[in-house]
Amino acid sequence: MTATQSNQATIHLDTNRVISPISPLLFSGFSEHMGRCIYEGIYDPASPHADANGLRKDVLAALRELNFRAMRYPGGNFLSGYRWEDGIGPRDQRPRRRDLAWQSIETNQFGTDEFMAFCQEVNTAPMMGVNMGTGTIQDAANLVEYCNAPVGTLYADKRAANGHKDPYGVKYWCLGNEMDGPWQIGHLEAAEYGAKAREAAKMMRWHDKSIELVLCGSSNSRMATYPEWDRVALEWCWDQVDYHSMHYYAGNRDNDSASYLALSAEFESFVDTLSGTLRYVKAKQRSKKEVYLSWDEWNVWYKATLPTDVQGSWTQAPHLIEEVYNLEDALVVAQWMNVFLRKSDVLKIACLAQTVNVIAPILTTREAMLKQSIYYPFMIFSKLAVGSALDVLVRAPHYKTAHFGDMPLLDVSSSYDATSGQNAVFIVNRSQTDSVTVTIHWDDRAPKQISAAHQVAGTDPKAANSFEKPNQIVAVSVAPPKIEGSSATLTVPPLSFTALEVRL
Ligand code: AHR
Repeated sequence: MTATQSNQATIHLDTNRVISPISPLLFSGFSEHMGRCIYEGIYDPASPHADANGLRKDVLAALRELNFRAMRYPGGNFLSGYRWEDGIGPRDQRPRRRDLAWQSIETNQFGTDEFMAFCQEVNTAPMMGVNMGTGTIQDAANLVEYCNAPVGTLYADKRAANGHKDPYGVKYWCLGNEMDGPWQIGHLEAAEYGAKAREAAKMMRWHDKSIELVLCGSSNSRMATYPEWDRVALEWCWDQVDYHSMHYYAGNRDNDSASYLALSAEFESFVDTLSGTLRYVKAKQRSKKEVYLSWDEWNVWYKATLPTDVQGSWTQAPHLIEEVYNLEDALVVAQWMNVFLRKSDVLKIACLAQTVNVIAPILTTREAMLKQSIYYPFMIFSKLAVGSALDVLVRAPHYKTAHFGDMPLLDVSSSYDATSGQNAVFIVNRSQTDSVTVTIHWDDRAPKQISAAHQVAGTDPKAANSFEKPNQIVAVSVAPPKIEGSSATLTVPPLSFTALEVRL
């Protein structure tokens, strides 16, 4: 660390310097039939907190606070072996199956109609996946008919018979999951996937022209086939899709917190590469249409590993990858969301993976619920980042990292909503030891008020919440800085995330 105790930084904002409108779908989630995400997490009729439909009321309330704009479902690797018709109709007639992806028992007591009811409860748009592993393009089209067609034909009538006469109008659809991965059930080569996805997309759109489709991109930037997979799949499907997916799980495997806390550099480079791939394919196809990025699995995941020979050991709702999140993880999540704003011109969907128990902001026991450290930065961004992203100019001292060279101590983004005048400034101090005194300059107008300042901070990067001590890492209100002309100065502590609510 080359920083000193008297670190000074400046941030310049100008409401004319806009990157792009912020897509609300950047604040979306992902719930898979995996471990205890659906069963015992979202749906647990045996819990004292269950409502009449078996949904956990305490979990619903916590998810509502996160304000997910869309929810991706039902997987994940689970999707590639899932027969969606197993999960509809009378519950006592639904089959129990061996889920090969997670080596677990799937009871099918929660399926498409239960998911739609859940989405309504948490006020989120469903984002359905179709099985491109064992599933056929006909299965995919049938599911669109089940969800979106008016009554009068087989699958729409099945929906009505199951108590839902009106179509659900599902707008967002994923064409499979991580089909580039050899671990995926029914894994395909890029051209095979491209051909299948294109034909599925055509049939799905013929059922409903208004749907928006997400193509499978690379499972992560370390795949040997990255980014060639992306180019090939996009060339097959450019005219049929609206989004191209990216997945990434971050971790501090070497316990090198200086590098870990600079990971936004890696996130940005992943987006930049795929953004370049999108431009290349668009140019090659002489196309006028756009395809955007959907970062539909992202989170920290490295502590709760999964021995592939054990996985769920053929049990129901096994405890799988119940990652415990600490302060430094929360600061990585905050930087990730800074990247979403800084890349909002190309990134339009992002789904936090996952929502409950499985690498999740919320953990449950049958009786209790815990909000983990990462819950708080997500909640703050989801609430405050509205309008457009501003192109922020930051001058901050640098520190040394083994992975990324010299990196600035601060990672910053900002949003501005011209209609309401609401401006937010999001600041991560990556230093593990030093505070930074930051002067923010609003270059084109003086702020009228800084109404609130929220902070997630601590002295121990490994500190985490537990059921016994649930408030180790939470968001607290701190004194907002005073406005002096068109500037304001605040000191952000080491290992901190601060968000300012400003009225311009
Ligand atoms: O989110 C856990 C798993 O990670 C998902 O099922 C899969 O898509 C990814 O590899």
